[in-house]
Amino acid sequence: MSERPDGIQRLFRDAVLEMTGYQSGEQPTGGKYIKLNTNENPYSCSPNVIQAIQSVAAAGLNRYPDATASAFRNAAASVLGVPSDWLICGNGSDEILTMVTRAFVGEGQTVRWPFPSYVLYPVLTQIQGAVGQPIAYNKDWSLPKAFFSGNGDPGLVFISNPNSPSGTQLGREQILELAEALPCPILVDEAYADFAGVSCVDLVTQNEQILISRTLSKSYGLAGMRFGYLVAQPQIIRQLIKVKDSYNCDALSIAGATAAIADQEWLRQNVAKIKSTRDRMSLRLQSLGFDVTPSSANFIWCRHRDQTSQEIYSLLKQNRLLVRYMDFDHWGDGIRITVGTDDQLDALITILNSIL
Ligand SMILES: Cc1ncc(COP(=O)(O)O)c(C=O)c1O
Repeated sequence: MSERPDGIQRLFRDAVLEMTGYQSGEQPTGGKYIKLNTNENPYSCSPNVIQAIQSVAAAGLNRYPDATASAFRNAAASVLGVPSDWLICGNGSDEILTMVTRAFVGEGQTVRWPFPSYVLYPVLTQIQGAVGQPIAYNKDWSLPKAFFSGNGDPGLVFISNPNSPSGTQLGREQILELAEALPCPILVDEAYADFAGVSCVDLVTQNEQILISRTLSKSYGLAGMRFGYLVAQPQIIRQLIKVKDSYNCDALSIAGATAAIADQEWLRQNVAKIKSTRDRMSLRLQSLGFDVTPSSANFIWCRHRDQTSQEIYSLLKQNRLLVRYMDFDHWGDGIRITVGTDDQLDALITILNSIL
């Protein structure tokens, strides 16, 4: 760092002073927007979730919650087909990523991720005072050979699968190959895996380096509740329990998440609706002149052939529709549009028709 600041600022760690921090997607407060910018689910969650939360609230909140969210872990274990001591829960899967980074990465160590990807990975790396090693995806969003090399001695690898912002997915055999090629944990971030229909959860039994994070924010429609979990072998879970906040999931979210994961029929129907809107959205965007990356998630990454992405983002915003404009160094820009309801898709297409 060039110059030490003065006052209270000088007491912060250099790593914190040097970082910019996570920039979340716009959450507008004034006026009504169609919000297709943060990959939320447009539908409300299973009604069982609300009922479960209400009954816990009615019974009172004076006691601390179960520190390891056993009710959720038991319910999730039977859905996932792993023992409950292979699971740890977090306040959103962001907290799971934080725990894993905290536990495995010390100052000066290297963290690798493919680029462009989830913008939290560099932030978590910076907080640890560690060194980020982003390796660019090939233009078709496949992994380059360099990603499998031990150069730089990575202490942790993040892979968002499906990836954000592209919505593309790597095959299970590639994840296994990666875990065999590198000596470190491979955190497979499956925030969007329910929309893909393919998961690497069962690979955890084959290789202890494979760790899978999941969230209830997307496919379960519970971004406002904050609940995520990790699937990993129990010797890993036991170490992670030491670094998590003591009561990291509250009683309301544990009850809500337990009801949510138990309602697999709601999940199946919700995912089917979103996937069918996604297919229509992809075709309609292409017919309007967009290059669309085939998506396995609940969003679509695209660029228009004639008009700039930034311009399209601004014009949509003027028309009260928010999408995420993203510009990645040495890679280029594009827009990521969340799959909403069919009505929201119609509104998007109407506005695009008027501005293109
Ligand atoms: C790839 C990826 N991982 C993790 C998350 C975090 O999800 P959560 O709401 O569970 O913290 C997001 C959120 O947008 C995401 O895009």
